[in-house]
Amino acid sequence: MTLTDVLPSMGRSLQTKLEPDVWPRSASATADGLSIAGISANELAARFGTPAYILDEHEVRRRCQAYRAALPGFEIAYAGKSLTCRAVLRWMAEEGLALDVCSAGELAVARAVGFPAERILLHGNVKTTEDWKAALGYEVGRIVADSLDEIEQLGSLARHPQRVLVRVTPGVDGHTHKAIATGMEDQKFGFPLRDAMTAISAVLAQPGLRLDGLHCHIGSQIKSVASFELAARRMVEFIGQIRDRHGIVLRSLDLGGGHAVPYLPGEQEFDLVGYAQRVQVAVNYTAATLGLPSPQLTIEPGRALVANAGVTLYRVVTVKGSYVAVDGGMSDNMRASLYGARYLVRLAGRNSTAPLRTVSVVGRHCEAGDVIASDVSLPADVHAGDVLAVPVTGAYHHSLASNYNQICRPPIIGVRDGWARPLVRRETEEDLMARDVG
Ligand code: LLP
Repeated sequence: MTLTDVLPSMGRSLQTKLEPDVWPRSASATADGLSIAGISANELAARFGTPAYILDEHEVRRRCQAYRAALPGFEIAYAGKSLTCRAVLRWMAEEGLALDVCSAGELAVARAVGFPAERILLHGNVKTTEDWKAALGYEVGRIVADSLDEIEQLGSLARHPQRVLVRVTPGVDGHTHKAIATGMEDQKFGFPLRDAMTAISAVLAQPGLRLDGLHCHIGSQIKSVASFELAARRMVEFIGQIRDRHGIVLRSLDLGGGHAVPYLPGEQEFDLVGYAQRVQVAVNYTAATLGLPSPQLTIEPGRALVANAGVTLYRVVTVKGSYVAVDGGMSDNMRASLYGARYLVRLAGRNSTAPLRTVSVVGRHCEAGDVIASDVSLPADVHAGDVLAVPVTGAYHHSLASNYNQICRPPIIGVRDGWARPLVRRETEEDLMARDVG
């Protein structure tokens, strides 16, 4: 069973011409191209300009609800790094989720919407003085310790007993791109199992810290439930070793995020229900074998909640041979350049009966590698002024966006039930100059 199977049914569009799996459910193919949440791509492009990130609120909420329904006993903490802005964090709070932040900046947004502090976890392999100050000032519920240095720093800063999780790298290969694989040992995150007991002892030696449990995050865009299952087993075994060594039983286990999403039509959805069952069984069985109570489980999905709710709209500026050049590029989509990620592109501002041809959709930046999607099929009559849409751009697009070539970052436009409103406005040259103090 997949996420789609457990999504509350809001009714699929009657127009079934859109490619499966990748668009928000409210998207449909219409007489004048594409519509999202009942608003045409043409209207969105005309009102808000391009490029623009369109974000379907119902799709985000539905995915949160699907996670809560499929994993009733789990705490679901949204990984804010995938997309943070006030509206999105408000939706997450309303949907009853917890929140994972990894900087004072992310925490500032959470704070701005009054996200309940006890539901916030602070992460990161580097926590600066500003991060500590923000986290302790807001009294976040849990802090995930990533090094001996920070256990010592936090121990001396904490004024109230601070709940802590220790991040462990369980030596599990998530079979994903190496830049986003974090489960193997000998890398910058967490403690490998062979050193983790030292970290546990270090936390226990700090009177200001209260050891709550363990954390692991084996990577991102992971399709294999078996990898999560293996990580869960190893983590529970380690809880057993901690009991044997220190005589304490840790009651909470955070298994991180990393659930894959389909980027292209036909790619498999993450087996969420299989994940829920297999991970819970692995945890319960291992715990029972060791005579431990099953720990309370937390997971931290980011991409799985927001990626497929996002669509980027671009306008074609030139067509030269097989290059269709648009008004955005690697400043709004770093994923293609960073991870070789592949995307679908669709003509969104009109319909065409022209035959399809294979093109590369390229950006406006001064690099040959600034390619949004290579070898994609678009109607042969695509021309300057056309609106194109790229789905699955809700996660790690706005958050990775840059001002390369002094390009202003696109807005995030929230859509819902025929309404559209900017959630984050487009950046302006004044914004850029405001930081450039001469
Ligand atoms: N928890 C921790 C501790 C993490 O480091 C991450 C992601 C997550 C949860 C959420 O992972 P997700 O469910 O979103 O896969 N920029 C890359 C992804 C980097 C992920 C970093 N950490 C990309 O665009 O693919």
